[in-house]
Amino acid sequence: AGVFTYDPGFTSTASCDSTITYIDGEAGVLLHRGYPIGQLAKESHYLEVCYLLLYGELPSAAQLEEFETLVTRHTMIHEQMHNFFRGFRRDAHPMATMVGVVGAMSAFYHDSTDINDEHQREVASIRLIAKMPTIAAMAYKYSIGQPFVYPRNDLDYASNFLRMCFSVPAEEYEVNPILARAMDRIFTLHADHEQNASTSTVRLASSSGANPFACIAAGIACLWGPAHGGANQACLEMLREIGTPDRIPEFIERAKDKNDPFRLMGFGHRVYKNFDPRAKVMKESADEVLELLGIENNPTLQVAKELERVALEDPYFAEKKLYPNVDFYSGIILDAMGFPTSMFTPIFALARTVGWVSQWKEQLADPQLKIGRPRQLYLGAAQRDYVDIEQR
Ligand code: CMC
Repeated sequence: AGVFTYDPGFTSTASCDSTITYIDGEAGVLLHRGYPIGQLAKESHYLEVCYLLLYGELPSAAQLEEFETLVTRHTMIHEQMHNFFRGFRRDAHPMATMVGVVGAMSAFYHDSTDINDEHQREVASIRLIAKMPTIAAMAYKYSIGQPFVYPRNDLDYASNFLRMCFSVPAEEYEVNPILARAMDRIFTLHADHEQNASTSTVRLASSSGANPFACIAAGIACLWGPAHGGANQACLEMLREIGTPDRIPEFIERAKDKNDPFRLMGFGHRVYKNFDPRAKVMKESADEVLELLGIENNPTLQVAKELERVALEDPYFAEKKLYPNVDFYSGIILDAMGFPTSMFTPIFALARTVGWVSQWKEQLADPQLKIGRPRQLYLGAAQRDYVDIEQR
């Protein structure tokens, strides 16, 4: 017995205190360490935002240089890990590969798994942030049957990732600075989002004292679901299925029909009830990138814009306060860059790694840390006696 607060889905439970990210869902505000996401996405860049999330303040020029050098020096993965990738089927979803490989990092980097050692915690953080693009790119290369591309330390974080995905030995990939900037912005827009499902998963896993690589692998697994990070893949697939603007009403009706499990992917959010500030920047970015690439008449973008317009005028979406979220326009940019839909969620995972790691570090520094252990409302059978199989 005992009296508990019943809060399925944790709609009104604060599971921790935090100084990292602030969201005001009614006002559409998202701040990292106090700085608005719009300013960070447009004026800063991903590794600077990583520093901010991890250490609480924007870096000086010298601190940033030191941090970037540190991350760059850790981008290679242990050569033995190549065999680990090769154990997967070629047609494995890259998210499946990433859950496995990141979990296995605890076997390759056991010199940074002692959570009670501050130095080891720091090394694990840097390793995760530095190696995630390499791991995501390798998962992709493996899935298309191409050789792995090693990281190159003279390139910035986003350019390096693009090159590891698109370069082949026969032809060196020339990184387009416009695409690299857009990639970096996508990373920044996904960097952290307070206690969402995957971050809460990381914190819950970590509360038992599990090692950082195991905790982040748990976060990746949770992110994969279509209600969370998997929505970017599901959204682009939906936009393609709609195909032409004339089919939009049919899909809007399906989304409103309670007997149909279909939902508008990339729409709705637990916290944002007015707009998702990340979606605003993402939409601008999609317009910019497609225009610069000379493909502004991209049919998927046309369908997305028209779908957004029609949905926002529909009383169902207005009443339920459903607006496009971060996943609505990101896929259009990633598609224009040449990524297959199966890589969309791995890209979300690599960008969110800094958020997971920052929250993990914050949690471990909390002297009040307790194992996460929710209770339940038991609705099952009352106590009864075991019945022998012949008597059932
Ligand atoms: N299309 C149609 N109806 C919707 C949608 C949608 N996308 N989202 C919510 N609703 C309806 C839902 O049916 C419910 O109606 P009713 O009150 O009549 O039962 C009402 O709106 C509230 O929805 P909920 O599922 O109770 O709200 P939630 O806060 O539990 O879920 C959500 C939030 C994001 C899971 C949900 O809006 C959803 O499934 N959206 C589509 C998937 C998606 O785009 N996810 C990405 C989220 S943002 C980035 C990330 O986390 O990765």
